[in-house]
Amino acid sequence: MSEHYSGAPLLQVEGLHKSYNVPVLTDFSFELQPAEVHALIGGNGAGKSTFARILCGLTPRNAGKILLKGKPYAPASKRQAEHAGVVMVLQELNVIGALTVAENIFLSRLPRRAGFVRFRELNCLAREALKRVGLSDLDPTTPADRLGVGQQQLVEIAGALAVNCRVLILDEPTAALTDPEIERLFGNIHRLQAEGVGIIYISHRMDEIRQISTRVTVLRDGRRVATHHAAEITNSELVREMVGHDLPERKSAGGSLPGDVALRVRHLAAPPRVHDVSFELRYGEILGIAGLIGSGRTESLRAIFGADPKKGGEVFLGDAKEPLVIGRPADAVRFGIGMVPEDRKQDALLLAQSIKVNATLATLRRHAPGLGWLQTRAEAQTARAFCQRLDVRCASLEQGVAELSGGNQQKVVIGRWLARDCRILLFDEPTRGIDVAAKDVIYELLRDLASSGKAVAMVSSELTELMALCDRILVMSAGRIAAEFLPGQWSQEKITEAAFSGYLDRQQRT
Ligand SMILES: Nc1ncnc2c1ncn2[C@@H]1O[C@H](COP(=O)(O)OP(=O)(O)OP(=O)(O)O)[C@@H](O)[C@H]1O
Ligand SMILES: [Mg+2]
Repeated sequence: MSEHYSGAPLLQVEGLHKSYNVPVLTDFSFELQPAEVHALIGGNGAGKSTFARILCGLTPRNAGKILLKGKPYAPASKRQAEHAGVVMVLQELNVIGALTVAENIFLSRLPRRAGFVRFRELNCLAREALKRVGLSDLDPTTPADRLGVGQQQLVEIAGALAVNCRVLILDEPTAALTDPEIERLFGNIHRLQAEGVGIIYISHRMDEIRQISTRVTVLRDGRRVATHHAAEITNSELVREMVGHDLPERKSAGGSLPGDVALRVRHLAAPPRVHDVSFELRYGEILGIAGLIGSGRTESLRAIFGADPKKGGEVFLGDAKEPLVIGRPADAVRFGIGMVPEDRKQDALLLAQSIKVNATLATLRRHAPGLGWLQTRAEAQTARAFCQRLDVRCASLEQGVAELSGGNQQKVVIGRWLARDCRILLFDEPTRGIDVAAKDVIYELLRDLASSGKAVAMVSSELTELMALCDRILVMSAGRIAAEFLPGQWSQEKITEAAFSGYLDRQQRT
Protein backbone atom coordinates (compact mmCIF):
# COMPACT_ATOMS: atom_id res chain seq x y z
CA MET A 1 0.00 0.00 0.00
CA SER A 2 2.87 2.36 0.67
CA GLU A 3 5.19 1.58 -2.21
CA HIS A 4 5.45 5.30 -3.12
CA TYR A 5 6.41 6.27 0.40
CA SER A 6 9.71 5.31 1.92
CA GLY A 7 9.56 6.87 5.40
CA ALA A 8 7.75 5.51 8.43
CA PRO A 9 4.02 6.20 8.36
CA LEU A 10 2.58 8.82 10.66
CA LEU A 11 -0.47 6.74 11.34
CA GLN A 12 -0.97 3.05 10.78
CA VAL A 13 -4.26 1.23 11.31
CA GLU A 14 -4.68 -2.51 11.00
CA GLY A 15 -7.60 -4.88 11.49
CA LEU A 16 -9.89 -2.27 12.99
CA HIS A 17 -13.31 -3.50 14.10
CA LYS A 18 -16.29 -1.57 15.38
CA SER A 19 -19.88 -2.72 15.86
CA TYR A 20 -22.95 -1.11 17.31
CA ASN A 21 -25.77 -3.59 16.82
CA VAL A 22 -24.31 -4.45 13.46
CA PRO A 23 -20.70 -4.27 12.26
CA VAL A 24 -19.81 -0.75 11.15
CA LEU A 25 -16.09 -1.26 10.50
CA THR A 26 -14.69 -4.65 9.61
CA ASP A 27 -10.99 -5.49 9.38
CA PHE A 28 -10.24 -1.94 8.27
CA SER A 29 -6.69 -0.90 7.52
CA PHE A 30 -5.42 2.54 6.66
CA GLU A 31 -2.14 4.40 6.47
CA LEU A 32 -1.22 8.06 6.57
CA GLN A 33 2.18 9.50 5.71
CA PRO A 34 3.53 12.84 6.92
CA ALA A 35 2.57 15.65 4.54
CA GLU A 36 -0.02 13.46 2.85
CA VAL A 37 -3.66 14.33 2.19
CA HIS A 38 -5.39 10.97 2.28
CA ALA A 39 -9.03 11.10 1.18
CA LEU A 40 -11.56 8.70 2.63
CA ILE A 41 -14.68 8.20 0.55
CA GLY A 42 -17.74 5.94 0.68
CA GLY A 43 -21.53 6.03 0.64
CA ASN A 44 -23.68 7.34 3.49
CA GLY A 45 -23.30 5.01 6.44
CA ALA A 46 -20.11 3.38 5.12
CA GLY A 47 -18.31 4.06 8.41
CA LYS A 48 -16.15 7.10 7.62
CA SER A 49 -17.20 9.26 10.55
CA THR A 50 -17.01 6.28 12.88
CA PHE A 51 -13.38 5.74 11.89
CA ALA A 52 -12.65 9.42 12.41
CA ARG A 53 -14.35 9.39 15.80
CA ILE A 54 -12.24 6.44 16.91
CA LEU A 55 -9.07 8.29 15.90
CA CYS A 56 -9.98 11.37 17.86
CA GLY A 57 -11.03 9.57 21.01
CA LEU A 58 -14.79 10.03 20.75
CA THR A 59 -15.66 6.36 20.24
CA PRO A 60 -13.87 3.24 21.47
CA ARG A 61 -12.97 0.49 18.99
CA ASN A 62 -13.76 -3.19 19.52
CA ALA A 63 -10.50 -4.51 18.11
CA GLY A 64 -7.57 -3.52 15.96
CA LYS A 65 -4.15 -1.92 16.10
CA ILE A 66 -3.42 1.78 15.70
CA LEU A 67 0.11 3.16 15.70
CA LEU A 68 0.86 6.87 15.81
CA LYS A 69 4.49 7.55 14.85
CA GLY A 70 5.17 3.88 15.51
CA LYS A 71 3.72 3.90 19.03
CA PRO A 72 0.46 2.24 20.13
CA TYR A 73 -2.33 4.81 20.13
CA ALA A 74 -5.67 4.48 21.96
CA PRO A 75 -7.08 7.85 23.00
CA ALA A 76 -9.77 7.70 25.67
CA SER A 77 -11.02 11.22 25.03
CA LYS A 78 -10.86 14.05 22.54
CA ARG A 79 -8.48 15.86 24.86
CA GLN A 80 -6.07 12.91 24.92
CA ALA A 81 -6.17 12.72 21.15
CA GLU A 82 -5.43 16.44 20.84
CA HIS A 83 -2.60 16.04 23.29
CA ALA A 84 -1.12 13.38 21.02
CA GLY A 85 -1.51 15.79 18.09
CA VAL A 86 -4.64 14.34 16.49
CA VAL A 87 -7.24 17.02 15.81
CA MET A 88 -10.56 16.74 14.06
CA VAL A 89 -13.25 18.92 12.52
CA LEU A 90 -16.47 17.01 13.07
CA GLN A 91 -19.04 16.47 10.37
CA GLU A 92 -21.92 17.52 12.56
CA LEU A 93 -21.61 21.10 13.64
CA ASN A 94 -20.68 21.35 17.26
CA VAL A 95 -20.55 25.03 17.81
CA ILE A 96 -22.13 25.94 21.14
CA GLY A 97 -24.63 28.69 20.53
CA ALA A 98 -24.52 30.29 23.95
CA LEU A 99 -20.76 30.89 23.79
CA THR A 100 -18.98 33.50 21.75
CA VAL A 101 -17.11 32.71 18.57
CA ALA A 102 -13.79 33.12 20.40
CA GLU A 103 -14.79 30.77 23.19
CA ASN A 104 -15.86 28.18 20.66
CA ILE A 105 -12.52 28.34 18.90
CA PHE A 106 -10.51 27.80 22.06
CA LEU A 107 -13.02 25.76 23.99
CA SER A 108 -10.66 23.17 25.38
CA ARG A 109 -7.70 25.47 25.85
CA LEU A 110 -8.85 28.89 27.02
CA PRO A 111 -5.90 31.12 27.98
CA ARG A 112 -6.06 31.43 31.77
CA ARG A 113 -4.14 33.14 34.49
CA ALA A 114 -4.83 32.23 38.10
CA GLY A 115 -8.00 30.46 37.08
CA PHE A 116 -9.45 33.39 35.16
CA VAL A 117 -9.92 33.36 31.43
CA ARG A 118 -7.96 36.18 29.83
CA PHE A 119 -10.53 37.54 27.45
CA ARG A 120 -8.35 40.18 25.79
CA GLU A 121 -5.82 37.53 24.85
CA LEU A 122 -8.57 35.12 23.85
CA ASN A 123 -10.20 37.57 21.46
CA CYS A 124 -6.87 38.52 20.01
CA LEU A 125 -5.96 34.91 19.29
CA ALA A 126 -9.42 34.28 17.94
CA ARG A 127 -9.11 37.18 15.52
CA GLU A 128 -5.90 35.61 14.16
CA ALA A 129 -7.59 32.23 13.81
CA LEU A 130 -10.62 33.73 12.06
CA LYS A 131 -8.43 35.59 9.61
CA ARG A 132 -6.97 32.28 8.49
CA VAL A 133 -10.39 31.10 7.30
CA GLY A 134 -11.37 34.44 5.80
CA LEU A 135 -13.65 35.66 8.56
CA SER A 136 -11.67 38.84 9.28
CA ASP A 137 -14.89 40.81 9.56
CA LEU A 138 -16.40 38.61 12.23
CA ASP A 139 -16.26 39.97 15.77
CA PRO A 140 -14.93 37.19 18.03
CA THR A 141 -17.34 38.24 20.78
CA THR A 142 -20.40 37.46 18.61
CA PRO A 143 -22.56 34.74 20.15
CA ALA A 144 -22.14 31.68 17.96
CA ASP A 145 -25.86 31.06 17.57
CA ARG A 146 -26.04 34.13 15.34
CA LEU A 147 -23.95 32.38 12.71
CA GLY A 148 -25.26 30.47 9.72
CA VAL A 149 -24.17 26.91 9.07
CA GLY A 150 -21.38 27.94 6.69
CA GLN A 151 -19.89 30.36 9.19
CA GLN A 152 -20.19 27.84 12.01
CA GLN A 153 -18.28 25.41 9.84
CA LEU A 154 -15.56 27.98 9.27
CA VAL A 155 -15.36 28.68 13.01
CA GLU A 156 -14.84 24.98 13.64
CA ILE A 157 -12.13 24.81 11.02
CA ALA A 158 -10.50 27.89 12.56
CA GLY A 159 -10.52 26.09 15.92
CA ALA A 160 -8.78 23.03 14.50
CA LEU A 161 -6.22 25.12 12.64
CA ALA A 162 -5.35 26.97 15.83
CA VAL A 163 -4.01 23.77 17.44
CA ASN A 164 -0.56 22.44 16.78
CA CYS A 165 -1.28 19.07 15.27
CA ARG A 166 0.39 16.20 13.50
CA VAL A 167 -2.75 14.60 12.14
CA LEU A 168 -5.74 16.67 11.06
CA ILE A 169 -9.03 14.95 10.27
CA LEU A 170 -11.57 16.90 8.25
CA ASP A 171 -14.97 15.22 8.08
CA GLU A 172 -16.86 16.88 5.23
CA PRO A 173 -15.44 20.31 5.95
CA THR A 174 -16.81 21.86 2.78
CA ALA A 175 -20.37 20.57 2.78
CA ALA A 176 -21.66 24.05 3.62
CA LEU A 177 -18.91 26.12 2.00
CA THR A 178 -18.84 27.93 -1.34
CA ASP A 179 -15.91 28.01 -3.75
CA PRO A 180 -13.93 30.96 -2.34
CA GLU A 181 -14.00 29.52 1.19
CA ILE A 182 -13.00 26.12 -0.13
CA GLU A 183 -10.03 27.67 -1.94
CA ARG A 184 -8.94 29.29 1.30
CA LEU A 185 -9.29 26.01 3.20
CA PHE A 186 -7.15 24.31 0.57
CA GLY A 187 -4.54 27.03 1.04
CA ASN A 188 -4.45 26.19 4.74
CA ILE A 189 -4.19 22.48 3.97
CA HIS A 190 -1.20 23.09 1.70
CA ARG A 191 0.46 25.15 4.41
CA LEU A 192 0.02 22.34 6.95
CA GLN A 193 1.24 19.80 4.41
CA ALA A 194 4.40 21.80 3.99
CA GLU A 195 4.90 21.54 7.75
CA GLY A 196 4.61 17.74 7.55
CA VAL A 197 1.11 17.41 8.96
CA GLY A 198 -0.87 14.41 7.68
CA ILE A 199 -4.47 15.09 6.71
CA ILE A 200 -7.40 12.71 6.47
CA TYR A 201 -9.98 14.26 4.20
CA ILE A 202 -13.55 12.95 4.13
CA SER A 203 -15.83 14.29 1.41
CA HIS A 204 -18.55 13.39 -1.07
CA ARG A 205 -17.37 15.98 -3.57
CA MET A 206 -15.30 14.11 -6.12
CA ASP A 207 -13.77 17.14 -7.80
CA GLU A 208 -12.40 18.30 -4.46
CA ILE A 209 -10.88 14.95 -3.69
CA ARG A 210 -9.16 14.99 -7.03
CA GLN A 211 -7.85 18.48 -6.43
CA ILE A 212 -6.49 18.06 -2.92
CA SER A 213 -5.61 14.46 -2.17
CA THR A 214 -2.53 12.36 -2.66
CA ARG A 215 -4.21 9.00 -2.09
CA VAL A 216 -7.83 7.88 -1.86
CA THR A 217 -9.19 5.01 0.20
CA VAL A 218 -12.65 3.71 -0.64
CA LEU A 219 -14.87 2.31 2.09
CA ARG A 220 -17.97 0.28 1.41
CA ASP A 221 -20.16 -1.13 4.18
CA GLY A 222 -17.36 -0.79 6.70
CA ARG A 223 -14.71 -2.55 4.60
CA ARG A 224 -11.79 -1.11 2.70
CA VAL A 225 -12.35 -1.71 -1.00
CA ALA A 226 -9.07 -0.22 -2.26
CA THR A 227 -6.49 2.52 -1.88
CA HIS A 228 -5.35 4.44 -4.97
CA HIS A 229 -3.07 7.27 -5.91
CA ALA A 230 -5.51 10.04 -6.76
CA ALA A 231 -3.85 10.75 -10.08
CA GLU A 232 -4.17 7.15 -11.21
CA ILE A 233 -7.92 6.65 -10.95
CA THR A 234 -10.97 8.17 -12.62
CA ASN A 235 -14.11 9.46 -10.91
CA SER A 236 -16.33 6.81 -12.41
CA GLU A 237 -13.99 4.07 -11.23
CA LEU A 238 -14.12 5.52 -7.72
CA VAL A 239 -17.90 5.76 -7.82
CA ARG A 240 -18.14 2.15 -8.98
CA GLU A 241 -15.99 1.04 -6.06
CA MET A 242 -18.05 3.08 -3.60
CA VAL A 243 -21.48 2.05 -4.80
CA GLY A 244 -20.65 -1.43 -6.06
CA HIS A 245 -22.02 -0.72 -9.57
CA ASP A 246 -22.20 2.00 -12.22
CA LEU A 247 -24.62 4.85 -11.73
CA PRO A 248 -27.36 5.23 -14.32
CA GLU A 249 -26.88 8.03 -16.81
CA ARG A 250 -28.10 11.31 -15.34
CA LYS A 251 -30.95 12.97 -17.20
CA SER A 252 -30.07 16.42 -18.47
CA ALA A 253 -31.34 19.44 -16.62
CA GLY A 254 -33.81 22.15 -17.37
CA GLY A 255 -36.23 22.01 -20.24
CA SER A 256 -39.44 22.04 -18.25
CA LEU A 257 -41.89 24.73 -19.26
CA PRO A 258 -42.54 26.96 -16.30
CA GLY A 259 -46.19 27.58 -15.52
CA ASP A 260 -48.00 30.36 -13.67
CA VAL A 261 -46.41 32.44 -10.98
CA ALA A 262 -46.49 30.59 -7.67
CA LEU A 263 -44.85 33.11 -5.39
CA ARG A 264 -43.97 36.77 -5.78
CA VAL A 265 -41.48 38.23 -3.38
CA ARG A 266 -41.31 42.03 -3.32
CA HIS A 267 -38.60 44.06 -1.58
CA LEU A 268 -38.13 41.53 1.17
CA ALA A 269 -35.99 42.86 4.00
CA ALA A 270 -34.78 40.95 7.03
CA PRO A 271 -31.69 42.68 8.39
CA PRO A 272 -28.83 42.25 8.93
CA ARG A 273 -28.45 39.91 5.98
CA VAL A 274 -31.42 40.53 3.65
CA HIS A 275 -31.83 44.08 2.36
CA ASP A 276 -33.99 44.11 -0.72
CA VAL A 277 -34.94 40.86 -2.41
CA SER A 278 -37.51 40.60 -5.20
CA PHE A 279 -38.16 37.61 -7.44
CA GLU A 280 -40.85 35.37 -8.83
CA LEU A 281 -41.07 31.63 -8.51
CA ARG A 282 -43.16 29.69 -11.03
CA TYR A 283 -44.95 26.38 -10.88
CA GLY A 284 -43.08 23.69 -12.75
CA GLU A 285 -39.63 25.18 -12.35
CA ILE A 286 -36.60 24.65 -10.18
CA LEU A 287 -35.18 28.02 -9.27
CA GLY A 288 -31.61 27.94 -7.98
CA ILE A 289 -30.25 30.51 -5.55
CA ALA A 290 -26.48 30.94 -5.50
CA GLY A 291 -24.28 33.30 -3.51
CA LEU A 292 -21.47 33.40 -0.99
CA ILE A 293 -21.87 32.40 2.64
CA GLY A 294 -23.59 35.25 4.45
CA SER A 295 -25.06 36.76 1.27
CA GLY A 296 -28.59 36.27 2.57
CA ARG A 297 -29.67 33.14 0.67
CA THR A 298 -30.71 31.14 3.71
CA GLU A 299 -32.10 34.17 5.50
CA SER A 300 -34.33 35.05 2.53
CA LEU A 301 -35.88 31.58 2.50
CA ARG A 302 -36.30 31.64 6.26
CA ALA A 303 -38.01 35.04 6.18
CA ILE A 304 -40.39 33.90 3.42
CA PHE A 305 -41.22 30.76 5.39
CA GLY A 306 -41.80 32.68 8.61
CA ALA A 307 -38.90 31.08 10.44
CA ASP A 308 -37.32 34.53 10.94
CA PRO A 309 -39.14 37.86 11.26
CA LYS A 310 -39.45 40.12 8.21
CA LYS A 311 -38.63 43.79 8.54
CA GLY A 312 -40.20 44.83 5.28
CA GLY A 313 -41.50 43.67 1.93
CA GLU A 314 -44.27 41.36 0.88
CA VAL A 315 -44.86 37.85 -0.33
CA PHE A 316 -47.82 37.09 -2.64
CA LEU A 317 -49.29 33.77 -3.62
CA GLY A 318 -49.74 33.66 -7.43
CA ASP A 319 -51.11 36.96 -8.69
CA ALA A 320 -53.16 37.63 -5.58
CA LYS A 321 -53.58 41.30 -4.73
CA GLU A 322 -53.25 40.80 -1.01
CA PRO A 323 -49.92 39.71 0.46
CA LEU A 324 -49.70 36.57 2.57
CA VAL A 325 -49.64 36.96 6.31
CA ILE A 326 -46.93 34.58 7.48
CA GLY A 327 -45.86 35.06 11.08
CA ARG A 328 -44.51 31.59 11.69
CA PRO A 329 -43.75 28.42 9.71
CA ALA A 330 -47.14 26.87 10.49
CA ASP A 331 -48.79 29.73 8.56
CA ALA A 332 -46.58 29.07 5.55
CA VAL A 333 -47.40 25.36 5.63
CA ARG A 334 -51.10 26.25 5.67
CA PHE A 335 -50.60 28.22 2.43
CA GLY A 336 -48.93 25.17 0.88
CA ILE A 337 -45.32 26.28 1.37
CA GLY A 338 -42.82 23.74 2.71
CA MET A 339 -39.19 24.18 3.61
CA VAL A 340 -36.22 21.91 4.17
CA PRO A 341 -33.89 24.00 6.33
CA GLU A 342 -30.13 24.17 6.20
CA ASP A 343 -29.47 23.16 9.77
CA ARG A 344 -31.04 19.76 10.20
CA LYS A 345 -29.88 19.40 13.77
CA GLN A 346 -31.48 22.60 15.01
CA ASP A 347 -34.51 23.00 12.87
CA ALA A 348 -35.45 19.83 11.22
CA LEU A 349 -35.04 16.67 13.21
CA LEU A 350 -36.27 15.43 16.53
CA LEU A 351 -33.03 13.64 17.24
CA ALA A 352 -34.40 11.54 20.07
CA GLN A 353 -37.24 10.25 17.91
CA SER A 354 -37.31 7.32 15.54
CA ILE A 355 -36.88 7.54 11.79
CA LYS A 356 -40.54 6.68 11.37
CA VAL A 357 -41.70 9.62 13.46
CA ASN A 358 -39.26 12.01 11.81
CA ALA A 359 -40.07 10.88 8.32
CA THR A 360 -43.76 11.45 8.75
CA LEU A 361 -43.79 14.63 10.83
CA ALA A 362 -44.92 16.75 7.92
CA THR A 363 -47.75 14.44 6.97
CA LEU A 364 -49.07 13.40 10.36
CA ARG A 365 -52.35 15.17 9.85
CA ARG A 366 -53.00 13.33 6.61
CA HIS A 367 -52.61 10.03 8.36
CA ALA A 368 -56.10 9.98 9.83
CA PRO A 369 -55.52 11.10 13.38
CA GLY A 370 -57.56 9.22 15.91
CA LEU A 371 -57.40 5.91 14.11
CA GLY A 372 -54.47 4.68 16.13
CA TRP A 373 -53.37 1.53 14.34
CA LEU A 374 -54.19 2.84 10.90
CA GLN A 375 -52.06 5.85 11.53
CA THR A 376 -49.09 3.75 12.51
CA ARG A 377 -49.43 1.51 9.50
CA ALA A 378 -49.71 4.43 7.10
CA GLU A 379 -46.77 6.09 8.81
CA ALA A 380 -44.65 3.01 8.49
CA GLN A 381 -45.59 2.72 4.82
CA THR A 382 -44.61 6.29 4.01
CA ALA A 383 -41.38 5.94 5.92
CA ARG A 384 -40.51 2.61 4.35
CA ALA A 385 -41.18 3.83 0.82
CA PHE A 386 -38.76 6.70 0.95
CA CYS A 387 -36.13 4.88 3.00
CA GLN A 388 -36.04 2.41 0.16
CA ARG A 389 -35.97 5.00 -2.59
CA LEU A 390 -33.17 7.02 -0.97
CA ASP A 391 -31.39 3.95 0.39
CA VAL A 392 -31.38 5.11 4.01
CA ARG A 393 -29.01 2.83 5.92
CA CYS A 394 -30.71 1.94 9.17
CA ALA A 395 -31.21 -1.05 11.43
CA SER A 396 -34.99 -0.48 11.44
CA LEU A 397 -37.49 2.35 11.16
CA GLU A 398 -37.68 2.41 14.94
CA GLN A 399 -34.00 3.40 15.19
CA GLY A 400 -33.29 6.79 16.74
CA VAL A 401 -32.29 9.38 14.16
CA ALA A 402 -29.33 10.50 16.28
CA GLU A 403 -27.72 7.13 15.55
CA LEU A 404 -27.83 7.58 11.78
CA SER A 405 -24.86 8.78 9.78
CA GLY A 406 -24.93 12.44 8.71
CA GLY A 407 -26.02 11.77 5.15
CA ASN A 408 -28.75 9.40 6.22
CA GLN A 409 -30.16 12.02 8.60
CA GLN A 410 -30.35 14.46 5.71
CA LYS A 411 -32.26 11.88 3.66
CA VAL A 412 -34.84 11.61 6.44
CA VAL A 413 -35.38 15.39 6.43
CA ILE A 414 -35.87 15.47 2.69
CA GLY A 415 -38.10 12.44 2.60
CA ARG A 416 -40.41 14.07 5.03
CA TRP A 417 -41.18 16.99 2.76
CA LEU A 418 -41.38 14.87 -0.34
CA ALA A 419 -44.23 13.01 1.30
CA ARG A 420 -46.11 16.18 2.10
CA ASP A 421 -48.53 17.84 -0.23
CA CYS A 422 -47.02 21.31 -0.63
CA ARG A 423 -47.28 23.17 -3.92
CA ILE A 424 -44.29 25.35 -3.16
CA LEU A 425 -41.10 23.87 -1.75
CA LEU A 426 -38.05 25.72 -0.50
CA PHE A 427 -34.88 23.65 -0.11
CA ASP A 428 -31.78 24.93 1.65
CA GLU A 429 -28.72 22.85 0.72
CA PRO A 430 -30.80 19.72 0.13
CA THR A 431 -27.86 17.48 -0.70
CA ARG A 432 -25.49 18.56 2.05
CA GLY A 433 -23.52 15.49 3.11
CA ILE A 434 -25.36 13.15 0.77
CA ASP A 435 -23.38 10.55 -1.19
CA VAL A 436 -23.10 10.54 -4.97
CA ALA A 437 -25.63 7.79 -5.60
CA ALA A 438 -28.33 9.27 -3.35
CA LYS A 439 -27.64 12.74 -4.77
CA ASP A 440 -28.74 11.51 -8.17
CA VAL A 441 -31.93 10.11 -6.64
CA ILE A 442 -32.64 13.45 -4.96
CA TYR A 443 -32.03 15.33 -8.21
CA GLU A 444 -34.50 13.02 -9.87
CA LEU A 445 -37.04 13.56 -7.08
CA LEU A 446 -36.66 17.34 -7.37
CA ARG A 447 -37.15 17.14 -11.14
CA ASP A 448 -40.21 14.96 -10.62
CA LEU A 449 -41.64 17.53 -8.21
CA ALA A 450 -41.15 20.29 -10.77
CA SER A 451 -42.60 18.28 -13.64
CA SER A 452 -45.61 17.43 -11.55
CA GLY A 453 -46.26 21.17 -11.40
CA LYS A 454 -44.78 22.12 -8.05
CA ALA A 455 -42.69 25.22 -7.59
CA VAL A 456 -39.21 24.46 -6.25
CA ALA A 457 -36.61 26.94 -5.04
CA MET A 458 -33.27 25.71 -3.79
CA VAL A 459 -30.18 27.23 -2.26
CA SER A 460 -26.96 25.36 -2.90
CA SER A 461 -23.28 26.02 -2.40
CA GLU A 462 -22.38 23.66 -5.22
CA LEU A 463 -22.56 25.57 -8.46
CA THR A 464 -22.21 22.42 -10.53
CA GLU A 465 -25.31 21.09 -8.81
CA LEU A 466 -27.33 24.24 -9.53
CA MET A 467 -26.19 24.31 -13.12
CA ALA A 468 -27.08 20.67 -13.62
CA LEU A 469 -30.51 20.93 -12.08
CA CYS A 470 -32.10 24.35 -12.34
CA ASP A 471 -34.27 26.10 -14.89
CA ARG A 472 -33.09 29.48 -13.70
CA ILE A 473 -30.43 30.70 -11.25
CA LEU A 474 -30.55 33.82 -9.10
CA VAL A 475 -27.31 35.05 -7.57
CA MET A 476 -27.43 36.87 -4.26
CA SER A 477 -24.78 39.26 -3.09
CA ALA A 478 -24.77 41.37 0.06
CA GLY A 479 -28.48 40.90 0.71
CA ARG A 480 -29.71 41.63 -2.81
CA ILE A 481 -30.32 39.73 -6.02
CA ALA A 482 -27.26 40.58 -8.07
CA ALA A 483 -28.03 38.61 -11.22
CA GLU A 484 -30.38 36.19 -12.89
CA PHE A 485 -29.27 33.54 -15.39
CA LEU A 486 -31.08 31.20 -17.74
CA PRO A 487 -29.65 27.89 -18.96
CA GLY A 488 -27.05 28.52 -21.62
CA GLN A 489 -26.22 31.93 -20.16
CA TRP A 490 -24.57 30.83 -17.00
CA SER A 491 -21.05 29.68 -16.21
CA GLN A 492 -19.14 29.11 -13.01
CA GLU A 493 -17.15 32.31 -13.64
CA LYS A 494 -20.18 34.49 -14.33
CA ILE A 495 -22.01 33.27 -11.24
CA THR A 496 -18.98 33.75 -9.01
CA GLU A 497 -18.44 37.23 -10.40
CA ALA A 498 -22.04 38.15 -9.61
CA ALA A 499 -21.72 36.64 -6.13
CA PHE A 500 -18.87 39.05 -5.35
CA SER A 501 -20.37 42.10 -7.10
CA GLY A 502 -22.37 43.48 -4.16
CA TYR A 503 -19.30 43.52 -1.95
CA LEU A 504 -17.09 45.18 -4.55
CA ASP A 505 -19.63 47.97 -5.04
CA ARG A 506 -19.65 48.55 -1.34
CA GLN A 507 -15.87 48.75 -1.21
CA GLN A 508 -15.79 51.21 -4.10
CA ARG A 509 -18.38 53.42 -2.45
CA THR A 510 -16.49 53.67 0.81
N1 LIG B 1 -24.34 5.48 18.24
C1 LIG B 1 -24.70 4.64 17.26
N2 LIG B 1 -25.54 3.62 17.50
C2 LIG B 1 -25.90 2.77 16.51
N3 LIG B 1 -25.45 2.86 15.25
C3 LIG B 1 -24.61 3.85 14.95
C4 LIG B 1 -24.18 4.79 15.93
N4 LIG B 1 -23.34 5.67 15.33
C5 LIG B 1 -23.25 5.29 14.03
N5 LIG B 1 -24.00 4.19 13.79
C6 LIG B 1 -24.15 3.50 12.51
O1 LIG B 1 -22.88 3.27 11.96
C7 LIG B 1 -22.94 3.31 10.52
C8 LIG B 1 -21.79 4.15 10.00
O2 LIG B 1 -22.01 5.50 10.32
P1 LIG B 1 -20.99 6.65 9.97
O3 LIG B 1 -21.50 7.88 10.60
O4 LIG B 1 -19.61 6.22 10.29
O5 LIG B 1 -21.16 6.73 8.37
P2 LIG B 1 -20.47 7.73 7.35
O6 LIG B 1 -19.65 6.91 6.40
O7 LIG B 1 -19.78 8.82 8.04
O8 LIG B 1 -21.73 8.26 6.53
P3 LIG B 1 -22.12 9.75 6.00
O9 LIG B 1 -21.51 9.86 4.63
O10 LIG B 1 -23.60 9.71 5.88
O11 LIG B 1 -21.63 10.74 6.96
C9 LIG B 1 -24.30 3.86 10.18
O12 LIG B 1 -25.10 2.83 9.67
C10 LIG B 1 -24.86 4.37 11.49
O13 LIG B 1 -26.25 4.21 11.56
MG1 LIG C 1 -20.15 10.82 8.26
